[in-house]
Amino acid sequence: MKVLGYSTYGKPSVFTEKNIETPVINANEVLLRTKYSSIHPVDTIIRNGDFSGGAPLQQFLIPGSEVLGEIVEVGSAITDFALGDVVIGKPGRGGYAEYVKVDQSKIFKKPANMPDEAAAGFSAVGTTAYYSLFDFGQIKTGETITILGASGGVGSIAIQIARNEGLYVIAVASEKNKDYVLHLGADEFADYNDPSQLAGLANRADVVIDASLFASSAEAGVALVKDGGHYITLTSSPAAPLDKSIHIIDMRRNAEMTDKKAMDYLIDLHEKQPIEVKPTTVYPLSLQGVVDAHTTLEAGTLSKKILLKNEMN
Ligand SMILES: NC(=O)c1ccc[n+]([C@@H]2O[C@H](COP(=O)([O-])OP(=O)(O)OC[C@H]3O[C@@H](n4cnc5c(N)ncnc54)[C@H](OP(=O)(O)O)[C@@H]3O)[C@@H](O)[C@H]2O)c1
Repeated sequence: MKVLGYSTYGKPSVFTEKNIETPVINANEVLLRTKYSSIHPVDTIIRNGDFSGGAPLQQFLIPGSEVLGEIVEVGSAITDFALGDVVIGKPGRGGYAEYVKVDQSKIFKKPANMPDEAAAGFSAVGTTAYYSLFDFGQIKTGETITILGASGGVGSIAIQIARNEGLYVIAVASEKNKDYVLHLGADEFADYNDPSQLAGLANRADVVIDASLFASSAEAGVALVKDGGHYITLTSSPAAPLDKSIHIIDMRRNAEMTDKKAMDYLIDLHEKQPIEVKPTTVYPLSLQGVVDAHTTLEAGTLSKKILLKNEMN
């Protein structure tokens, strides 16, 4: 089967294509023929070697922690899924491939009526949004939440959860996405490029979620939280000492924060009020496709979720 990966850290050009044996599953796993592999911002950070501490890569690394695929083999201990089911799979890595094996605890039926492209990029951003709001932000009905990066994959779902839970939602994104975030249910909008608009949000939020991409504005984000409130960051923690008493949380999920718990909530919500997922753009599952996809993601100018499409489908 065809896979895309790299043996050294560096620019998108480090990717190579290989043909390797199709994985062999155990009793608790399924084999998926991928339809789409989702590309996450963190994939580019890992590829650059920024998490390696300077150590060289020891193996051929195939990224891809989230796919949408069709079950083509089912482990003998599995009763909840069958051949032909189209599922969301969270293999951890290995998803930039024509086939990937996934443990049954890491597969989820595609939400009803959700288009394939939307479903392919839904679970990682959705589960992240869920835990950032409930477990870390401890949101309560009637509170005010400010979401930085509100037009992004995580932020757009955070808006929809917050609305469902009865919060007043302030969305911070770029001006071009103002109508989009208001359409998703935000009550108010501010442009992160306009300091005066951000200044107008100071000390108003019980909870601030920083789901912005590669932003270095953590101190500016902290200014938006009320005394006693929560600042949850998915990006960088504020370094400066604080002159107010707030909870600053660098979000790290623990073992109890399972995908299943969050997906159960999200699928219920989707049945009540269809969840809109950030628009997607598709590149082929090919060497040129993955290089172009990573290059585009790093350029930071495309407000769309990027997917690799397996042309075998
Ligand atoms: N994807 C995941 O599953 C996941 C999981 C854990 C953590 N995270 C982290 O969460 C963050 C968001 O991920 P994502 O997938 O939602 O990214 P994304 O879809 O690319 O969204 C990025 C958001 O950041 C905004 N933004 C860009 N530059 C900004 C700036 N200088 N100041 C404020 N906002 C800015 C963008 O606004 P405009 O497009 O309107 O300009 C957009 O709303 C990333 O740091 C990521 O590493 C993601």
